[in-house]
Amino acid sequence: NMNALVFVLLGYLLGSLPFAVIVSKAFGLADPRSFGSGNPGATNVLRSGNKLAALLTLVGDAAKGWLAIWLAGKWGGDSLGVAAAGIAAFFGHAFPVFLKFKGGKGVATALGVLAGFNGWLALICASVWLLVALVTRYSSLAALLAAVSAPVATAWLGSGKEALMAVTAMSVILILRHRDNIKRLLAGTEGRIGGKKQSD
Ligand code: G3P
Repeated sequence: NMNALVFVLLGYLLGSLPFAVIVSKAFGLADPRSFGSGNPGATNVLRSGNKLAALLTLVGDAAKGWLAIWLAGKWGGDSLGVAAAGIAAFFGHAFPVFLKFKGGKGVATALGVLAGFNGWLALICASVWLLVALVTRYSSLAALLAAVSAPVATAWLGSGKEALMAVTAMSVILILRHRDNIKRLLAGTEGRIGGKKQSD
């Protein structure tokens, strides 16, 4: 499938756009890789104290995942091409060509990809994230539980085996990229949303 290869490249380049770094620069904030968890993502941009910058990072990183899927569908991609575009965008966010392949953990981009597959899927996973975040104030724990729920919800909604494979792969990579967060959660040292400075 030649189309799938084009969509992979397109998704990867879109996913490589690091909105945490771009938005922080535009707002005159410190580079998110230089403080807090060091992660170029919305959660860490929020630690700068600028909520609008964090929101725009979330929206931008999610939009690029959604856009990769939407474009693949619009340009005639089959279910494999669409799924390939989505996983490529997620991969681009985690390993961006523009940041020497050191990217983010992929929570917002995964949400955008889920929205591209199925709006209900995104709504379910965003609800899991929000519920856990509201109760525990741990952004990472919310992401981990949403990541576990994503393949289950994809299978339940019957979104097709290509989407299920892409979502499962995303969740596995997302969880692996939260290794340090998992260690901190287990040690009780993970920073909470709106909490005091993180211990690392
Ligand atoms: O958005 C990623 C989130 O799950 C954790 O981010 O900065 O606390 O490592 P951070």
